[in-house]
Amino acid sequence: MARQLDGATRDALVERVRFYRDLGLTEFYRRPVDASVLAAELEPQALQAAAVEPEAESSNSQPNIFGEEPAIPARKSISAPPEIAAAVSAGDRAAALQMIRDEIGECTRCALHKGRNKIVFADGDPNARLMFVGEGPGADEDAQGLPFVGRAGQLLNNMIAAMGLTREQVYIANVVKCRPPGNRTPEPDEANTCTPFLFRQIDVVRPQVLVALGATAATYLLGHRQPLAGLRGRVHAFRGMQLIVTYHPAFLLRDPRQKKEAWADLQMAMKELGLKKAASSS
Ligand code: URA
Repeated sequence: MARQLDGATRDALVERVRFYRDLGLTEFYRRPVDASVLAAELEPQALQAAAVEPEAESSNSQPNIFGEEPAIPARKSISAPPEIAAAVSAGDRAAALQMIRDEIGECTRCALHKGRNKIVFADGDPNARLMFVGEGPGADEDAQGLPFVGRAGQLLNNMIAAMGLTREQVYIANVVKCRPPGNRTPEPDEANTCTPFLFRQIDVVRPQVLVALGATAATYLLGHRQPLAGLRGRVHAFRGMQLIVTYHPAFLLRDPRQKKEAWADLQMAMKELGLKKAASSS
């Protein structure tokens, strides 16, 4: 029989699952539990130990800690953009992006269309040298049709400013263009339906540096799953561009202690772009 959780426990569990998700842990298995064991497992120390174990894995061995079957099929990595992308000149990029937007239309290709208000295509400069990719629109983005305009967006704006840039100078998009219900992680079929459009946007803008915000963006850009700990701290070759992985701003709002780490990632991006170190980060 299903166990009923009181509202506070349920909210705490939802928050905890989000926290794991931001760390890149997205597969959870249910096993029969006895209520007294469950109570012991919900002790903070036990939860902390569970969170640390997968992160402690070496980044070199790349073990599949998510089980035998990765949820998204591995795809061949492409080291250079398709030739057609190279043909889009700076002056034609806005029009090329508009063509992609037109092709998306009033999309019904996946179930996410049922709950959305607005499709969130992207925001920013079609000729940007720096592009950010998030996970998917939240409530504010769904209402306004623009990415990162809520609380996480405010923090992203601050991160961009700390790099010495403005939001208008970068390009921002998401793995999925419609809001997942309750801000849940996009399902693989939803992300795999939507990412071809994201890849086309990337190939048109062709930023020098791409920053994946959080595990979902990193997973679908790189085409395989790995905890963020194994992906951060280095520059990945990606379709002829440079990809840097960092924490999602929503995760940083929940755990501000990690801002220092995120700042180190952004400084790596700044180095690649030849940007001077800004005075301070927030
Ligand atoms: N979180 C995202 O991943 N994308 C947005 O656009 C907003 C919040």
